[in-house]
Amino acid sequence: MDENYDVIVLGTGLTECILSGLLSVDGKKVLHMDRNDYYGGESASLNLTQLYTKFRPGQSPPEELGRDRDWNVDLIPKFMMANGEIVRFLTHTDVTKYLEFKQISGSYVYRSGKIAKVPANEREALSSSLMGIFEKRRMKKFLEWVQNVKDEDPSTHQGINVNQQTMTEVYAKFGLDAGTQDFIGHAMALHLDDNYLKEPARETVEKIKLYAASVLRYGKSPYIYPLYGLGDLPQAFARLSAVYGGTYMLDKPVTEFIYDDSGKVTGVKSGDEIVHAKQVICDPSYASSKVRKTGSVVRAICLLKHPIPNTEDIDSVQIVIPQNQIGRKHDVYVACVSSAHMVCAKDYYLAIVSTIVETDNPEQEIQTGLNLLGPIHEKFVSVSPLEEPIENGTNDQVFISKSYDATSHFETVCDDVHDLWKRITGEPLVLKKRNEEEAA
Ligand SMILES: *[C@@H]1O[C@H](CO)[C@@H](O)[C@H](O)[C@H]1NC(C)=O
Repeated sequence: MDENYDVIVLGTGLTECILSGLLSVDGKKVLHMDRNDYYGGESASLNLTQLYTKFRPGQSPPEELGRDRDWNVDLIPKFMMANGEIVRFLTHTDVTKYLEFKQISGSYVYRSGKIAKVPANEREALSSSLMGIFEKRRMKKFLEWVQNVKDEDPSTHQGINVNQQTMTEVYAKFGLDAGTQDFIGHAMALHLDDNYLKEPARETVEKIKLYAASVLRYGKSPYIYPLYGLGDLPQAFARLSAVYGGTYMLDKPVTEFIYDDSGKVTGVKSGDEIVHAKQVICDPSYASSKVRKTGSVVRAICLLKHPIPNTEDIDSVQIVIPQNQIGRKHDVYVACVSSAHMVCAKDYYLAIVSTIVETDNPEQEIQTGLNLLGPIHEKFVSVSPLEEPIENGTNDQVFISKSYDATSHFETVCDDVHDLWKRITGEPLVLKKRNEEEAA
């Protein structure tokens, strides 16, 4: 470890690995360390033994669950929008050559006590059970407008200026009711709250276009997911790092950050060794004095022996329960994968239900999600703090990521990667043209 590195990255979570990959491709020499003897940190995928060690200390996994190596259980499951930013990061770094993907078979939303597929185009809108007959036609007109609206062609605007008019005004123009707005805003545009209603419509229109284009790419849903679980991402980035002369080291606890007189970081201490670099990037757990808690997230990892009811027996699905539908301030997410994704033994399904905690009884808050699953074979519930950096890192050159929120997609992780990149380099992250074409 006596070489000189440009950047030291601590923790092999998703955000850190993506950044480390982007920096490597940009020509930086990166040393990446993790205190654990496995990849992934908070966002690791665990085998059966690791899963039981974490949630049921002293208890071994029941024999009926089969072999350890058949299980790769994501602690924080996330699906990738096929045309989304995460896929652009993966193609830009070329880490895709170490990964295999499979599509997620459905994207569902909860409305008035039932779940149904999110309609991605005009045809699906007309056959959707989410809306009554007149609302379906209004939804069809709305989706047609979203698909066709182009800045340079005023004949497509239908009298709406997306830079000025708010989404509330757009919904009113098409006459869409509150329940329809819920699933458009939360299951298609993937907004985390309803602040978007008061903002210019452009961002939401673009998010819906992205959703629809991602569905078109593979057909069944806008989402894809890596075979063997998200834990394969850090390993793929570790292989990529080696190509660029970087180093990944596991089982390396960091005891101390070293600073110069002006308070800028100059390296970190691990055991008896000190490694030097001008910048340190880490997840909140490596810099507890520099982060603040903003809330908590509750997650229930559930093992099922059947597909989720009312989803036409598909092998994988995302279900969004919009906050308004159940009188909450945060959405509840359900992400389900199965042995088709090489994450559990044959005939098992893994469903994770999550949300941001609002009360003293977090498990009760995800009950609507748990109720959708049918009989639950085994359940592991955890509540984790949500943390974010107090400072932006300019002063000490220590750049800290945010904890993973409750979402079951990558949008907020990608926002954090962009934010970190700007703080670290002083420039916005712009990916090269070539990769946009590849991803198109
Ligand atoms: C970081 O925060 C400092 C104040 O501590 C501010 O002056 C600076 O503009 C911020 N930099 C960025 C990139 O946001």
